[in-house]
Formats: sequence, structure tokens, C-alpha cells
Amino acid sequence: MTSPKLHLKGITKSFVAPRTGQQTLALADVSLDIEDGEFICIVGPSGCGKSTVLNLIAGLDTPSAGVLEKDGKPITGPGADRGVMFQDYALMPWQTVQDNVGFGLRHGTPGKPFTPQQREERIRHFVELVGLKGSEKKYPHQLSGGMRQRVALARLLANGPDILLMDEPLGALDAQTRLILQIELLRIWGQTAPRSERKTAIFITHDIEEAVFLADRVVVMSSHPGRVRAVLDIDLPRPRDESVRANPRFGQLSEQIWGLIRDEAYRAIGGADEPRSETADAA
Ligand SMILES: Nc1ncnc2c1ncn2[C@@H]1O[C@H](COP(=O)(O)OP(=O)(O)OP(=O)(O)O)[C@@H](O)[C@H]1O
Ligand SMILES: [Mg+2]
Repeated sequence: MTSPKLHLKGITKSFVAPRTGQQTLALADVSLDIEDGEFICIVGPSGCGKSTVLNLIAGLDTPSAGVLEKDGKPITGPGADRGVMFQDYALMPWQTVQDNVGFGLRHGTPGKPFTPQQREERIRHFVELVGLKGSEKKYPHQLSGGMRQRVALARLLANGPDILLMDEPLGALDAQTRLILQIELLRIWGQTAPRSERKTAIFITHDIEEAVFLADRVVVMSSHPGRVRAVLDIDLPRPRDESVRANPRFGQLSEQIWGLIRDEAYRAIGGADEPRSETADAA
């Protein structure tokens, strides 16, 4: 039997505040197997440990207990095989689009550094893939938020990771740009290509419909401590485009996920429970 792309078994993560010594149990007994080429979305209330899961897979932090493996081998630190993208672009403001995209490439991959020509060709390819041809020489401040996130995506892909780790990458964008980039992301991920050619993607979002639109499976987390509450198969056909939102199954799945996180989401923003309706108040 081949091992899954990612194997998380009984992962616990606690943080200890350096000054007070106070412990936060961020994750408790998180288990999850992710197959090669799957698109996984993680949703859950604020503070439930979504970013912690991603950081552990990225190797930016280590679990307190449990098994964390990629291709059957323990993850012991960061690596070019796992690329990370965050909400806040993280572009270098003093560098052009093409230099930002080529940033990791300048340093080459251990064992197979690129020649200057290969590097240039690679930058050109990924700038085009994300739809930024013509903007190569611009600086981040000359770009819209959506364009900046395209640059971040091109940089992520240019390094050739086999796992894409994305923490609310579209969270800072306006609603229309966000919808466009969701479709672009599926195109770039390879939703029309055979599964064997797709990269494994893990995408965190607060937006339930975004999760349903993008994912093969949605992982719903609950908090205090962070656990996997449910894993839902998103059985909507691919390739997906705007029309999938009109599919009744799309609405059903979105409601099912909202039902799983509603109470906790209300508690997380300070309300005791769901607000009562006006008619209930008047009664
Ligand atoms: N470096 C850290 N030191 C101490 N506590 C931390 C650290 N990182 C995360 N935590 C705590 O762990 C818990 C999970 O945090 P995490 O950032 O993973 O949540 P999240 O689901 O990504 O939240 P959000 O939706 O707000 O981004 C929270 O209680 C948080 O305060
Ligand atoms: Mg987070």
C-alpha cells in the first residue's frame, strides 16, 4: 500500500507563554490523511488551530505529540517541497514583479541550481500563468491587491513545491476579485488536468462557499482545543466554474458546514448564541 501524501495521526500542539508559563492547547488529537493531488480546505472558528496545522505541515513548528509524515517520512523542518502563501502578500516592496517571482529561484534548489536562462524562462512561465504578462517590471505598490496575490501565487509555484499551503490567501481581497481568483486558482492548480498532474493543496478560509467551491474535501475544525470535527466530501463535478454555485448540492453542502460551525462561530465573536430573530424578540 502506498502512503498518503500527508499523514497526521494524533497530533497535539500546546504553546507555552514564555513569561507566564501559561499553556494553550491549540490542537488535540488531530488525525488526517491527505492524498496526492487532493485539494483540501480547512474551515473553523477563529482560534481553532487552522494556521497551527498549516505551520506544522510547513515545518515552521513542531508537534508536541503525534505523527506527522509526508510521503511516509517524518516532517522535521521547512523545505522547498512545501510552499507557503499567506493573506498579506509578503512581497518585497523594493523588488519588481519578476524579481519577487524569482526570489527563491535565485538561490537555486539544492542539488539542481537553475542556469540564468532557465531561471528567466521559469519566471516568464509563471508570470504568464497567473495572468501578469506585461507587469513584470512593476513594483508591488503599483499593483492592486488581487495582482499582488497573483505575484505571491506565481512565486509559490515557481519554486516547484509538490504541496501548496495557503493560509487565507484571498482573505484581504474584495468580493469580486476573490471570486475571479478562486476560478484562476482552480485553473492553475490543474482542475482540467488528470489527477496525477495536480499538486496537493491545503487552503484555509473563513468563507464556507469558497471552501465548497474549491475543495475535494472540507475539513471542519472546532476549537478549545482544536480538533477535526468533520471531514466532508465535496461531490460536485470538476471542472468547476461559476455555474456550480447554482447547483442545489452546493447550497446543501454550504449549509451543512455552516451548521457544524455556527454555534462556535457566534461564541468566538462574543455572542452567547445565534441572535434571535426579530419576530422572536417581539413575541
Ligand atoms: N506562537 C504561539 N504562541 C502561543 N499561542 C499560540 C501561538 N500560535 C497560536 N497560538 C494559539 O493557538 C490557538 C490556535 O491558533 P491558530 O492561529 O492556529 O488559529 P486559527 O484557526 O488559524 O485562527 P484564525 O482563524 O483567527 O486565523 C489560539 O488559541 C492561539 O492563540
Ligand atoms: Mg489563522
